[in-house]
Amino acid sequence: MKKVKFLLIGIISALCIVGCGNQTSSSSRVIEDYEDDGSEHHDPMYITNNFGSDAASELVVQWQNIDGSTNQRVQITTPDDVDFTYAHNVEASYRKLDIDTAKVGEYDKNGVYRAEISDLEPGKQYIYRVGANDAWSDTYYHLTAEGDSSNFSFTVASDPQSPAHTEMSKTLNAANEYDEDHRFFFLAGDLVDDIGKKPAEIKSYTQAASEFNKYKIIATTQGNHDTYENNQPNNTYKFSQATIFNTFTTFPNNGFVQDDVTKSNSYYFRYNNLLFVSLNTMVTDDAYAPQAAWLRNVLDEQSDADYIVATMHIGPFQSENDSEWKEPNVRKAFLGIFSEYKVDAVFYGHDHSYGRTNPIALTGNETVNDLKIFNTTPNEDGTVFSMVGATGPKFYDLGNNSYQSNIFSVRSDARPGTFVNVQVNDDELEINAFKLSTTTDGEIIPIDSYSIPKKNR
Ligand SMILES: [Fe+2]
Repeated sequence: MKKVKFLLIGIISALCIVGCGNQTSSSSRVIEDYEDDGSEHHDPMYITNNFGSDAASELVVQWQNIDGSTNQRVQITTPDDVDFTYAHNVEASYRKLDIDTAKVGEYDKNGVYRAEISDLEPGKQYIYRVGANDAWSDTYYHLTAEGDSSNFSFTVASDPQSPAHTEMSKTLNAANEYDEDHRFFFLAGDLVDDIGKKPAEIKSYTQAASEFNKYKIIATTQGNHDTYENNQPNNTYKFSQATIFNTFTTFPNNGFVQDDVTKSNSYYFRYNNLLFVSLNTMVTDDAYAPQAAWLRNVLDEQSDADYIVATMHIGPFQSENDSEWKEPNVRKAFLGIFSEYKVDAVFYGHDHSYGRTNPIALTGNETVNDLKIFNTTPNEDGTVFSMVGATGPKFYDLGNNSYQSNIFSVRSDARPGTFVNVQVNDDELEINAFKLSTTTDGEIIPIDSYSIPKKNR
């Protein structure tokens, strides 16, 4: 069989643009032969994945195992090598899950293992598994991006925000049935309801996610409910801290990081001719400006992309009432950049209903009163802002007492779950949003359909 070629992943610090100064480098070594060291090995847990900077050649996989586990690694090979006989071994980095269990209940004292796999071939199907010797995960499947201007599709959903994830599973299954060939999911945050007090929610989320991320990447961003609570009273969010969140999600190491690996991440990846940027709006207020500088650098560096999509948890426009939270920070930091770089679409969650603007160009200096009367006539160079709804049991009614009814051209109740399918075509992004039926499982109801023509940049 033809052996795949793997090389060391590049020095991570070389990929950092702004804000990586304190981040731990974790390049992954390729080791062809592992001797069985005689240790007892345990099954890996909480397996999560993401792309590296380049979805055509890089894959990131993270999992947990009993602290002190040895030989933890990814084995990756081609689908015909079902026994992994010819697999390459990519050594995992390790960090201790150093969390006071009094703060997080029964969350185990595990180690976090993470491997960055590079030099995959574009447009190729792989299989991989994680663990060691006699204790491997299930087989996972990964199709790399073509790395050219091939068409593809992906799905955006958000906010399971629940102790259980039955609704999330239903919604993601519906998204798979609608478009079985879509390449990845993006979940726009609030994967759990209360990360600090109910670690069982993490198990619930990762168990539900594993049904899907065995076959497709689930990229994520951090929401307010995913933010480390640090044993504070309920709803006292410790913005910028991601000590727990980063143990069951993973990202390419190319983002703005407020402090270190336990802090919140933003990141980007390139999928064919589309630049996908995940911003983290769960940072402290003083971190918006340096994150915006990071974004500007990424957009400059990736200026050959035909399409630009940005994502975040709390977006610039909320759905329900006048009491804004992070939204003014988001507007001030990012809207001017989105307009300047002609970002095509911004997808976000947090407000559990569906809303979508026409393509509009803002400066970021607009007040709420300005937004009430903002001219929303489609601007061909503008950005579409899409609040994608929710996939959990919590939904918001549509408020009409502020700027929302002006700024959003399409609004919809999101009950009992919504997803957005994005088809990347030669000349346009074709976008369709659906919600599940309230009466029949598996039936989907169109709530929005629009296209964004490819821009001249
Ligand atoms: Fe939220």
